[in-house]
Amino acid sequence: MCQNWMQYQLIKKYLEVMTDEQTLVVNSGHPIGLFPSHKNAPRAITTNGLMVGMFDTLDGFHQAAAMGVANYGQMTAGGWMYIGPQGIVHGTYITLLNAGRLYLGIPDDGDLSGKVFLTSGLGGMSGAQAKAIEIAGGIGIIAEVDKSRIETRSEQGWLSRYSSNLDEIFHWVEDHRSNGKSVSIGYYGNVVDLWDYVVQNDIKIELASDQTSCHDVYGGGYTPQGVTFEEGRELLRSDRKKFNEMVDKSLRKQFELIEIMTKRGSHFWDYGNSFMKAVFDAGVRRIAKNGENESDGFIFPSYVEDIMGPICFDYGYGPFRWVCLSGSHEDLAATDKMAMSRISPERRGQDRDNYIWIRDAEKNALVVGSQARILYADALGRVDIALAFNKMVREKRVGPIMLGRDHHDTGGTDSPFRETANIRDGSNVMSDMAHQCWAGNVARGMTLCVLSNGGGVGTGKAINSGFGLVLDGTERVDTIIRLALDWDVMGGVARRAWARNNHAIETTIEWNKRLGNKGHISLPFIPKEGLIEELVQKTLGET
Ligand SMILES: NC(=O)c1ccc[n+]([C@@H]2O[C@H](COP(=O)([O-])OP(=O)(O)OC[C@H]3O[C@@H](n4cnc5c(N)ncnc54)[C@H](O)[C@@H]3O)[C@@H](O)[C@H]2O)c1
Repeated sequence: MCQNWMQYQLIKKYLEVMTDEQTLVVNSGHPIGLFPSHKNAPRAITTNGLMVGMFDTLDGFHQAAAMGVANYGQMTAGGWMYIGPQGIVHGTYITLLNAGRLYLGIPDDGDLSGKVFLTSGLGGMSGAQAKAIEIAGGIGIIAEVDKSRIETRSEQGWLSRYSSNLDEIFHWVEDHRSNGKSVSIGYYGNVVDLWDYVVQNDIKIELASDQTSCHDVYGGGYTPQGVTFEEGRELLRSDRKKFNEMVDKSLRKQFELIEIMTKRGSHFWDYGNSFMKAVFDAGVRRIAKNGENESDGFIFPSYVEDIMGPICFDYGYGPFRWVCLSGSHEDLAATDKMAMSRISPERRGQDRDNYIWIRDAEKNALVVGSQARILYADALGRVDIALAFNKMVREKRVGPIMLGRDHHDTGGTDSPFRETANIRDGSNVMSDMAHQCWAGNVARGMTLCVLSNGGGVGTGKAINSGFGLVLDGTERVDTIIRLALDWDVMGGVARRAWARNNHAIETTIEWNKRLGNKGHISLPFIPKEGLIEELVQKTLGET
């Protein structure tokens, strides 16, 4: 969020001295100053790395960053909404459960008991897979070449056990298949060796993905088969050409093994790490849908295209979160309890997942630093929970609370390679939605409004809008909750409905009915098959 500590100190100072009739303005980390505004205006408006179109490239960004005028538009952190690893654990838990529903027919009230998920990576974000698969009730096998990463996750309690012996690992797997208990197992070794083993031994794998750092395969994000992690690092320093050749060979082999397993019934998806792009770049043309280039996408779905997009974002479910500003753990426990009481687990499978998540949140002990909680919710759920929280603040049952969300959501982010990957009407190249989301939140009085370029997927590849709202217990804030939280989600549902995404259309119809003449979202009417062709023919015939 800042380029240097001086900016950080200045922002901190401004926040300490400002009044509720001023707005702090931050340009790419630089606080340009405090400006007079009014009580219902945001207290901070910040933008990160927004570049003029023709300069909006990685090179353009590096030059601007070197001049000290652009910061990297990180998504969660850039939106001042980073709350530690629980955000990614909750998102991964939901992805896994919904993958089970979509691909394996797991019922809404079921979990992944007895089902195996094979993947790789126990690093920064990928490490969440171990904890998430256990919460989802399944059996996870996660390959990791870096021993220190395995030890960290094991000491943290996220990884139940690990071994470098694949026979031993698959004995554990069979035990858990029969007793139905969840477990996360680390394989200390290369993911390609793991895939090789399951192919050779004809082992059933229901769900599979990959979270090696494929966005940077040639820079060390992916350790090729045939070298240890340490040997790979050494090779990277001493013989880059050989390292790159080994990476390409390893990726090609991994793809061939995955291809065999998917033919045997495994379901594989790309986890936003550019795995399929890396395989394509390694020379495998048939991973592209059209067998030639990337313009039509790849043969395996990305997790947003198949899972998070249609099952969560199109309904408006996204990573709602809050921070208890008192810093008191009792406040967090009280808000957890209140949030749980507002969810009806029988409404939809998604609500059931969120109910279980919040019920077990304390037990899963995922809080790091601030007393914060993530809880996926749709527009109705977010407004309802927020109003209940504001009432708690009003009645002095808890101290003030900051609400927010991250970018991995319905309406805040235009990112064709991730958040908006399941929008297929051609509007993927536009960033109107993220800009409108931000402007709408400013207009409705969110406390903090942030607009950023780039983030996890790269400069020029995404624009995302974030917000924060401080609940001070007042009725003024009740009004902002009703107007702004609903807008923040429904702006995205509206755009998804216009792209003719079915669940978004259903959600929009309900919203239009509920609001009556207070609001209306435009709905598409889908012509019968062949109508356009008929009309064109008719017109041509007449001329
Ligand atoms: N989980 C999500 O929701 C999500 C979202 C966006 C992007 N991603 C992407 O997922 C990837 C992983 O993110 P991260 O923060 O965990 O990165 P990371 O680099 O911290 O972790 C990746 C891990 O993979 C291991 N690894 C590399 N090659 C391997 C191999 N051949 N076999 C076994 N292990 C191997 C590395 O040692 C490392 O620990 C990134 O590309 C990231 O952009 C994930």
